[in-house]
Amino acid sequence: MKPRRGLGRSTHHPFHLPWIDAGNLTDNESSADDVVRETGWVFNNETGDELTLEKFVKTGENEVRLFLRLLQLEKFPFATSTLIEIGSGIGRMTAAFTRRFNKVIACDVDSAFLERCRQTVAAFGRVDGLTTSHVADGKSLPIADKSVDMAFSYITLQHCQTRDALGLIGEAIRVTRQGGLIVLNFRTWVKGDVLLVPLGYLIRSMWRLPLIGGSLSRWRWSTRLGWQANRLKPDTVLAEFENKLDKIRIFHSVKRSLSVTTKATVEVLPTNRINPSHWWLVAQVS
Ligand SMILES: C[S@@+](CC[C@H](N)C(=O)[O-])C[C@H]1O[C@@H](n2cnc3c(N)ncnc32)[C@H](O)[C@@H]1O
Repeated sequence: MKPRRGLGRSTHHPFHLPWIDAGNLTDNESSADDVVRETGWVFNNETGDELTLEKFVKTGENEVRLFLRLLQLEKFPFATSTLIEIGSGIGRMTAAFTRRFNKVIACDVDSAFLERCRQTVAAFGRVDGLTTSHVADGKSLPIADKSVDMAFSYITLQHCQTRDALGLIGEAIRVTRQGGLIVLNFRTWVKGDVLLVPLGYLIRSMWRLPLIGGSLSRWRWSTRLGWQANRLKPDTVLAEFENKLDKIRIFHSVKRSLSVTTKATVEVLPTNRINPSHWWLVAQVS
């Protein structure tokens, strides 16, 4: 039996609690399929007794293929490149990345996810190309400057406290070599956020309460409300980082407009099949 990981709720950053709680569920002797049935929803929102790791990884493969196409990245020299994936979880997309890239560094705030990520990649990817790296403080990547060719993150930055999300963007730029790419996914404002964001704040503030807090950061409905952590607009991100980037492209859904007023030269590309509440920053590190 493995020793239990630190469960001192008061020692954890409140924004990290649902991931640590889900991570604790993965940190047991259950089979990989059981782990997906119990915790898979925190990664792709699917539930059900029929879920298997194979089906879960298939959703990751499909999304990797889709996003590389939508974000016009298909000609990237994957086979000779190193990717860092920020917020890899248990490897839903990581397995697909290891089949394309020479090396992949999977990073996550939860260390138990990273252990499961290694197992996922061993079963469905290329484990000899994988290293994992724990983002213990939720904002710093323990990786050398200019050591990767692409930094990628999907449905992760939206779950971080704003200052941690901005910290991770800065880190993505720092660890990417000059001329390499950052490919980062964000969530921005939609009408429903008028309710969702304050409710999220309320639920998060209850995650540390004795008795009920532990359940609130594990139940699906309350976790999904509480992790509505930030909404970053392109202007906010670019105001901080545009001087470190070239060839900046913003991809967003054709179903909505997205204001970009920065002075930097930015190509704004309305694109089919991007979630209307999401946008992507694809840029070269200068
Ligand atoms: C919704 S899941 C998405 C996982 C993966 N990208 C996927 O699509 O399957 C978000 C992931 O981000 C991780 N995460 C949340 N906050 C983080 C932070 N501050 N630093 C690093 N990882 C974080 C969580 O542990 C979780 O694995």
